[in-house]
Amino acid sequence: MKALVLSGGSGTRLRPFSHSMPKQLIPVANKPVLDYVLENIRDIGIRDVGIVSGDRIDHIGAAVGDGSRFGLDITLLRQDAPRGLAHAVLVARDFLGDDDFVMYLGDNMLLPGIEDAAAAFRQDRPAAQVLVHKVPDPRAFGVAELAPDGSVQRLVEKPREPRSDLALIGVYFFTPAIHDAIAAIGPSARGELEITDAIQELLDRGAFVKAVEYDGYWKDTGEVADVLECNRKVLSDMQGRVEGHVDEHSRLSGDVVIGPGARVVRSRITGPAVIGAGSLIEDSQISAYTSIGADCVLSGTSLGDSIVLDGARLSGVSDIVGSLIGRAATVAAAPVNAEGHRIVIGDHAGVEVAA
Ligand code: G1P
Repeated sequence: MKALVLSGGSGTRLRPFSHSMPKQLIPVANKPVLDYVLENIRDIGIRDVGIVSGDRIDHIGAAVGDGSRFGLDITLLRQDAPRGLAHAVLVARDFLGDDDFVMYLGDNMLLPGIEDAAAAFRQDRPAAQVLVHKVPDPRAFGVAELAPDGSVQRLVEKPREPRSDLALIGVYFFTPAIHDAIAAIGPSARGELEITDAIQELLDRGAFVKAVEYDGYWKDTGEVADVLECNRKVLSDMQGRVEGHVDEHSRLSGDVVIGPGARVVRSRITGPAVIGAGSLIEDSQISAYTSIGADCVLSGTSLGDSIVLDGARLSGVSDIVGSLIGRAATVAAAPVNAEGHRIVIGDHAGVEVAA
């Protein structure tokens, strides 16, 4: 069995981050979302992984290398434009050969992993197997309608009036039967080859498509709020560990990870929180659910429930909450005689200044 990880897409809902990095590399608790995906794939005993990506393929390649770091053998597969999930399978046709495969959307976080789902697929080997998760409002997802025996009757992509509360998780198990189904479908109203349409095509041909209900933690990290929620969840399961230096005027409480070479000076950190390697935290207060990347400098700052990416600098600012601060970005207090707030931010960025 092989794995196909989809790491393309324009990531419009994660702008401005997606202007400068593939959304799958956004860090959650200081680790890219894509790393969690690859670890889950390795844990079901797969070695051969194809990653489909577009313009940002070099960026993905630089982040994952040849896969040996994960115990995987990674092949990069280029998709010329985001033409849909089923199109990505077409791009990977030679790589996949006649093997069964799991297709995993590179922005989906499934914290307990996919071992039970893989075991269910290997046992029954249906033509396709989808994972579904009950959500209060499934209109932003593919929606599955199931028969009483758990088999899939119908799949509809982002229906306006969903006929069930079962959202499709972005992890699918396929036999090679999917290739013929993809060859038979055309583009959807949004101009993409939809994997939901290909699975529906399998159903129309009388194939057995199985649904497995997944009740562990799942998040499609499509928006900033989702990334922050995921960060809270991963941090709350983390054990504290100090590999850097905490001076005698500082206090850590709760589970706090201090990375190698990081320094905490005259500061208070309330976990769960993680401070990346080589960062300096001085005269600052960091409260729960915060991830600070590597080589950041925070001084005279208070911040909580936020993610700060590598190399960012924050000084003299208080009460930063619910924020995602990009690589090497600067947030600083204005000089004492400043006439007002001075803001230099990139395209599609969002700033909320408390009145
Ligand atoms: C895709 C699929 C959708 C699925 C979702 C899960 O949507 O098309 O069926 O429910 O992933 O993350 P997208 O996130 O590309 O809009």
